[in-house]
Amino acid sequence: MDTTATPSGWNLFVARDDLSTTKLVDAPIPEVRDGEVLLRVDRVGLTANNVTYAALGDSFRYWEFFPAPAGWGIVPLWGFAEVVASRVDGVEPGSRHYGYLPCASHLLARPGRVDERGFRDASPHRKTLPTPYSAYALTTGDLAYEADRENLQILYRPLFWTSFMLADWIVDNAWLGARTALLSSASSKTAYGAAFLLQGQGHEVVGLTSRRNLAFTESLGCYDRVLTYEDVSQLSPAAPILYADFAGDESLSATLRTHLGDALVHHVVVGVTTQQPGPAGKLADTGPGMFFAPDQMRKRIDDWGRAGLDRRFADAWQRFAPVVEGWVDVVHSNGPQALEQVWHEVQSGRTAPRTGHVIAL
Ligand SMILES: NC(=O)c1ccc[n+]([C@@H]2O[C@H](COP(=O)([O-])OP(=O)(O)OC[C@H]3O[C@@H](n4cnc5c(N)ncnc54)[C@H](OP(=O)(O)O)[C@@H]3O)[C@@H](O)[C@H]2O)c1
Repeated sequence: MDTTATPSGWNLFVARDDLSTTKLVDAPIPEVRDGEVLLRVDRVGLTANNVTYAALGDSFRYWEFFPAPAGWGIVPLWGFAEVVASRVDGVEPGSRHYGYLPCASHLLARPGRVDERGFRDASPHRKTLPTPYSAYALTTGDLAYEADRENLQILYRPLFWTSFMLADWIVDNAWLGARTALLSSASSKTAYGAAFLLQGQGHEVVGLTSRRNLAFTESLGCYDRVLTYEDVSQLSPAAPILYADFAGDESLSATLRTHLGDALVHHVVVGVTTQQPGPAGKLADTGPGMFFAPDQMRKRIDDWGRAGLDRRFADAWQRFAPVVEGWVDVVHSNGPQALEQVWHEVQSGRTAPRTGHVIAL
């Protein structure tokens, strides 16, 4: 069956074996068949987290959300999209949704479980992929949606869910017996969100960052202490330490193991800002050691119910949002070429930690 119409869409492909190689190509806009909807990608954010999706694209199956030609991948982004055509009852053209979107002009979805909160993409290729990434939240049915805070939602909602679930997991597990929580890539949005939630609970929260981001990270005030990667020897091996590893840097981990010895009571990998897929890829095979927010979400849905979890998250977000507005400069750009440029900037690690890129497409 011919599924093409006018060739006025586009895809941004990234080479799977070299994330600094990209290709922006025209693409036909898919025809919408029974049971499908077409969304136009409207506004998205791009942070180190999206680069991690690519770095772990094979081991964590992130490449499978938006299929691409062999050797290439379409990086997942978070943001808003508008339904431009629908052949599904209850999904109206013109409706606006927040969710997991491709680096592309359009997303063809096959909604299942349509209700006033939105829909899930039940496309066959997503059947065995983690479900939180398949939810498309309708702005009119989303209690946490605030029209004047769309940019914050674009940038922080998935990151702060991870900050929230990580902090919750640490508290739920009695800090894994540690006195101190140590967070690497401390200037990252996800790490400082977790520090914000962990601070002031009778444990020390220490950030590790690069020299160039030391002043920024200290200025946040959410860490009790901030050290550069060169200064880890200042950490005392006398008290137990939990290492929440956002950097995924194997040599830093080895230095910490050597310096802290038995004081390093737990090491959990949360991210790989350094784009070294090795340790996280290995951990993916065995499970323990890698923090995956949806796992703790499932546990809390069992404990508190979905409404209880959402209420606690909303409370945390309402405390964090007015604070984080002062920590980020939203940098706007427009169009697919700008998206490609922002990808190169973020992927190469040149972005200042105060910057939050939002791209209108
Ligand atoms: N497990 C999960 O479910 C989950 C969910 C969300 C996010 N995360 C992870 O959390 C991490 C942070 O994501 P984010 O979006 O919050 O990041 P972000 O705000 O864009 O973080 C930027 C910071 O990351 C470090 N960084 C960025 N690029 C780098 C590079 N090329 N090499 C070395 N360091 C680099 C730098 O921190 P320093 O100078 O402080 O080192 C930089 O200031 C990512 O690895 C992400 O995947 C995990």
